[in-house]
Amino acid sequence: MNTIDQESAVLNDLAKIRSAFPILHQQVNGKPLIYFDNAASNQKPISVIQALEHYYKHDHSNIHRGLHTLAERATVAYEESRKAAASFINATESDEIIFTKGTTEGINLIASTFGRKFLVPGDEILITTMEHHSNIVPWQMLCEEKGLELKVLPLLDNGEANWSQLNSMLSDRTKIVSIVHASNSLGTINPIKEIGEKAHKVGAIMVVDGAQAAAHLDIDVQHLNCDFYAFSSHKMYGPTGVGILYGKRKWLEAMPPYQGGGEMIKEVSFDQTTYSDIPHKFEAGTPNIADVVAFKTAIEFIDRIGKKAIIKHENLLLDYASKALTRIDGFRIIGTAPEKVGVISFVLEGIHHFDLGIMLDAKGIAVRTGHHCTQPLMECYGIEGTVRVSFAIYNTIEEIDILVKSLESIVNRLRS
Ligand code: ALA
Repeated sequence: MNTIDQESAVLNDLAKIRSAFPILHQQVNGKPLIYFDNAASNQKPISVIQALEHYYKHDHSNIHRGLHTLAERATVAYEESRKAAASFINATESDEIIFTKGTTEGINLIASTFGRKFLVPGDEILITTMEHHSNIVPWQMLCEEKGLELKVLPLLDNGEANWSQLNSMLSDRTKIVSIVHASNSLGTINPIKEIGEKAHKVGAIMVVDGAQAAAHLDIDVQHLNCDFYAFSSHKMYGPTGVGILYGKRKWLEAMPPYQGGGEMIKEVSFDQTTYSDIPHKFEAGTPNIADVVAFKTAIEFIDRIGKKAIIKHENLLLDYASKALTRIDGFRIIGTAPEKVGVISFVLEGIHHFDLGIMLDAKGIAVRTGHHCTQPLMECYGIEGTVRVSFAIYNTIEEIDILVKSLESIVNRLRS
């Protein structure tokens, strides 16, 4: 072990942590799998997989509807997940947690309800150039429908937003500021609390896309004082198809429902329908019960390791990999902000990112290649895409060493 290994508390337990992830213990293309595509979706510990199985084997029924024992068990398990999500982000109360399909649906929900109800022609929505398509397109659709303007804060070369322009881009026309907490393509961490304070001063709400932050940063929505915070279970060791939208009670109560149907109503008649209280007003139809239930186990997994240890370990990997990779001839990191989560997007001079991705896969190394659903960001850097390496709690320094060696051998072969 080198000295860097010894500095990390998590690394001492790494073998134990890795043993909790069955998927990691396999060969891909004849080599031990190295999974560096965690920003797209990370892997699931056995406890989460077992929670899903347990639910279907013992507790499944529809929720909030039946009087029988299984209906009660399933309902309690589902609502326990809501409480766990509230506590995970320090929401004031679990009624402020809406379950969705994912971050994308969370942002669409705000656009379709808050946006449709409260914004009028001439109003403005402010985002940055580094946003994921899911924090661009819903706002573009709303702007088109309602005659609004979408304003985009530019970036500095290092992948930070040019916050010095923020004041001049905010005005009393700004109604929504919607910013990614940690960029999925660059890793940049944005100063949400400070942006929110400025947004609130002009009367705008602060929406946060937390997809890439939830598993990697400490999230405290009361401290951030944001109005909405959207994130996804599948990027935090939990099942796919579950998203969490936090919203302040005053907004959730003032907003109209998102979808109509069963479960979101108090009473239906052909003359008049009344809606459920929050959060149920926003959860029409039978939800993704099993995955929501297992999501609580993912939160427990993160809590058992602790955010402090996770952040320390991932920063260690980020630092080590950034230095080691930069020694490769022609290597350039896209996104070098001082505050980053464990994401390294890069280009290698003269080699297409897709070719690199395929050649790394042949060596058992999974990375993401392409525009990472941030095409305007790629355009801003004058590139089509990058190779992206992104870390999770189970990644190791040894895996980074293998990545560096693999890239060096690819470069030597292609350039010789
Ligand atoms: N948004 C996901 C990513 O960054 C899918 O890859």
